Amino acid sequence: MNLAKLAPPSTASAGRLHPVPGPARGQPCIEVAGVNHVFMSPLGATVQATSNVSFSIGVGEFVALVGPSGCGKTTLLNMMAGLVTPGS
Ligand SMILES: Nc1ncnc2c1ncn2[C@@H]1O[C@H](COP(=O)(O)OP(=O)(O)OP(=O)(O)O)[C@@H](O)[C@H]1O
Ligand SMILES: [Mg+2]
Repeated sequence: MNLAKLAPPSTASAGRLHPVPGPARGQPCIEVAGVNHVFMSPLGATVQATSNVSFSIGVGEFVALVGPSGCGKTTLLNMMAGLVTPGS
């Protein structure tokens, strides 16, 4: 799984178009640190959906989560949204 970050627009133009109160652009906004999650089937089979995933996203950054089917993108986003509780 790869996290692709695009360069944010310059502070000057972004400030004119979308004044955003709060932390300055580039400051950490979302921190994912060593996240693991294992799904278990009713029959006891396990699937490691994410393994030790870590990254940081700054205020104003535009980020895409890219990877092959089944690598854990949706599981990770569900954990970030609070819909799935990380195993660890
Ligand atoms: N509720 C669940 N119960 C059991 N296994 C699950 C469950 N949800 C996802 N999985 C498994 O966890 C792994 C990661 O799934 P996930 O849906 O997060 O991948 P994905 O990267 O979003 O895939 P796709 O690109 O196909 O949407 C896969 O092996 C999937 O089969
Ligand atoms: Mg998905």
